Amino acid sequence: MNVVHISAECYPVAKVGGLADVVGALPKYQNSATVSSQVIMPFYDNKFTKAHAFNTIYESELNLGDASFPFKILTLKKALLDFEIFFVDVPELLFKEYVYSNDDTERFLAFQIAALDWMLTWETFPDYIHCHDHHTGLIPFMLQESFKYKSFRKIPNILTIHNAQYQGWFPHNKVNLIPPFNFDNVGLLDWGSSINPLAAAIKCAWRVTTVSPSYMEELKKSANGLEDLLNHESAKCSGILNGIDWNVWNPETDNYLVSNYTDKTVVSGKKANKKHLCDTFNLDFKKPLFAFIGRLVGEKGSDLFPETFKNILEKGDASILLLGSGHDETETQLEALKNDYKGSYNAFIGYDEALSHVIYAGADFLLMPSRVEPCGLNQMYALRYGTIPIVRSIGGLKDTVIDISENNGFGICHPHVTVSDITNAIDRGVDLYKNNSIYKKLSKQIMGINHSWDASANAYIKLYKSI
Ligand code: ADP
Ligand code: GLC
Repeated sequence: MNVVHISAECYPVAKVGGLADVVGALPKYQNSATVSSQVIMPFYDNKFTKAHAFNTIYESELNLGDASFPFKILTLKKALLDFEIFFVDVPELLFKEYVYSNDDTERFLAFQIAALDWMLTWETFPDYIHCHDHHTGLIPFMLQESFKYKSFRKIPNILTIHNAQYQGWFPHNKVNLIPPFNFDNVGLLDWGSSINPLAAAIKCAWRVTTVSPSYMEELKKSANGLEDLLNHESAKCSGILNGIDWNVWNPETDNYLVSNYTDKTVVSGKKANKKHLCDTFNLDFKKPLFAFIGRLVGEKGSDLFPETFKNILEKGDASILLLGSGHDETETQLEALKNDYKGSYNAFIGYDEALSHVIYAGADFLLMPSRVEPCGLNQMYALRYGTIPIVRSIGGLKDTVIDISENNGFGICHPHVTVSDITNAIDRGVDLYKNNSIYKKLSKQIMGINHSWDASANAYIKLYKSI
């Protein structure tokens, strides 16, 4: 079985969020004696591409309406990942320092067209094409409707929705950028006066998945306008919970950590990493350390942090460390708090992969008060590192964290995203930490919860086979 994943992000090449982690791990876990799983992604001008050498294996030109753009397909000179990866290099559009920007319509259309143009030249077509999010959402439509790609029509394609908030809308007057297709079916693209790539993919893909079962159910009720469509297409929709890369996220071998540890040495191991964080960020080691890692956007509930953190820090019994970037106003407020609570609060506004690993290891609790969380990987990384997650019960968080008040519970869950709910949840954490023996027992216990990709990678294979 030959599977091609097409995605805007893939760890370790280019990462903005969890999409990269998933596309960088799933193929690896799918690969086996009978499955060959590959990735096609854009070629960006970033740290990874600067640090590695590439071979050109194909060169051509793609058309975006009347304009044409030269493009190349590149591979890594030295195989580095546990799966084959191909890069679409469109120098004028994709080769930028960033992954996303405000000309994404043209950039990702070029990406999708170049990938399909190149695949047309393959001797053997893939058995399955697996698209991720709206950046690849026009592929299912083009496979079904465009004249150029009609030889692909019988290839089953799958859309995985990692986040339905972003749908890739663009104005209808850009419809001519899409290669010629059966215009009788232009309705598949229409969304009011716009074109909606995610909606088009939901309509045209053979199967649609979300990254957790709960998120699929939630989307059917509220999905930024897509709810009726998802209900209508419900027969082909399902939720498959993400896994995590068990080898990359392993406290026993993680090179970023100050001290490695297993479930047997979790107490001393976490202590060493916490000590390092507290020394680096001037935090009181004796207090329980609550951390947040992530994008500072409404979906993550981070706009409530300034007020919540003030509540907590005024009481003086917790330390807080934040790593993230996003909304300007939230960034400014979170920076300003530093002056008021020296010694118990700090924030690193930015993106730092290495620091994130040390925080997962050194924090006592990880905060995720998300308004929307399709899956969430952070809580699973936290579990793997023996750090108690404090989450809002929604989407993938609901599917992975059980409150300590319940049978077999191990985390702290709160129902709403309000300052008072998050404050109460942190207070519960402070109390739990005071009960040192229970905290230590839980910390050890959660390291044994297996969220490796094995089960989910198989669930995808089963889904492909069911088509
Ligand atoms: P999302 O994709 O919605 O941002 P996920 O929980 O699926 O959320 O994945 C987030 C990923 O991005 C995790 O690997 C997390 O560690 C990482 N991450 C987010 N923000 C940062 C940051 N500022 N520095 C380092 N890693 C980050
Ligand atoms: C999205 C979601 C996140 C999910 C990730 C990987 O970015 O916001 O919840 O974990 O994709 O699927």
